[in-house]
Amino acid sequence: MFSPKESTVFSADNNRVLRDTGATYPILQAPMAWIARSQLVSAVSAAGAIGLLESSSRDPAVFREELAKVRASTARPFGVNLAIKFLKGNADTEALILDAVIHGGVRFVTTSAGDPGRYVKRLRDAGIVVYHSVPSLEGALKAVDAGVDGLIVEGGESAGIRGPEPVHSFVLLQAVRERVDLPIVAAGGIVDGRGMAAAFALGAEGVAMGTRFVAATESPVHANYKAAIVEAGPAGTVALPMPPGATSRVLKTELARQLAAGVDLPSRSKDIIQDLYRDGRTDIALGSAGESAGLIHAIKPAAQIIEETIAGFAQVIERLAALR
Ligand SMILES: Cc1cc2nc3c(=O)[nH]c(=O)nc-3n(C[C@H](O)[C@H](O)[C@H](O)COP(=O)(O)O)c2cc1C
Repeated sequence: MFSPKESTVFSADNNRVLRDTGATYPILQAPMAWIARSQLVSAVSAAGAIGLLESSSRDPAVFREELAKVRASTARPFGVNLAIKFLKGNADTEALILDAVIHGGVRFVTTSAGDPGRYVKRLRDAGIVVYHSVPSLEGALKAVDAGVDGLIVEGGESAGIRGPEPVHSFVLLQAVRERVDLPIVAAGGIVDGRGMAAAFALGAEGVAMGTRFVAATESPVHANYKAAIVEAGPAGTVALPMPPGATSRVLKTELARQLAAGVDLPSRSKDIIQDLYRDGRTDIALGSAGESAGLIHAIKPAAQIIEETIAGFAQVIERLAALR
């Protein structure tokens, strides 16, 4: 039986994501507000992948506390996400969180939702490696101009807030690889070694998984939300319009169907953390999820997800190598 610990596939010499992060495996747990906190991030990093701590909750005290918990629980590499659009709305919060990152021993940052030029020089001057998340070729080229070290390329099948006309990973990864030499981490549609091998074939050197880790044992969300992901099936999500000009992919619940049909629902939750994450109310709150939900069949510990992904990746590339 293949053990990922015996894997000689990845090293910092042949994989720039490992070079840039110091991790054992080029797998990122995607940033997710409230969910990507110390419990999940520590479990992912302790297993040799890269947990990314969220800061989009915009609470500097909570952020510092969570950062300290991650550092206390594992000596393995981890990272922080700075969601620019959310942080720049409050100058004090932004300054405090940036300060905590720069002086808190963080070595790897992903930026998202905005112009990375806002932070990139300060972070890089502090010796921090910066990857920026992009949902388009245009965004990728702008991020390269801004001086980032790598890209996280988010395909249209992914969970999260996207533009009105998202391009899916199969084309987007190749389109970015054609024009950009920086390391690429693929996000969207990946839950295991098959998806990881496919992403590598298209030009990625790492993968990020969001929905897969929402349905991890260490994810802090209510069991109903995890169960809804496991039960979703491949057509179980829908990209809902988020005016002006954005879409957000969510689980295709009755609520999501009604909203997609334009039905106004005053009973809909205004507090997703309380109603969905804590209380499991999938009837009144929308659960973010990528099309990848359709490939998730069980709730598993983060370490198992990571080990199975690496083992599956090795099996796929061995099978493909035999075609030579
Ligand atoms: C519940 C949930 C919350 C998310 N919140 C954020 C967020 O706060 N900031 C962000 O940049 N991306 C967010 N994302 C998107 C992820 O970072 C990632 O791009 C996406 O999950 C990848 O697609 P996948 O879910 O198919 O793996 C979220 C995704 C999920 C599932």
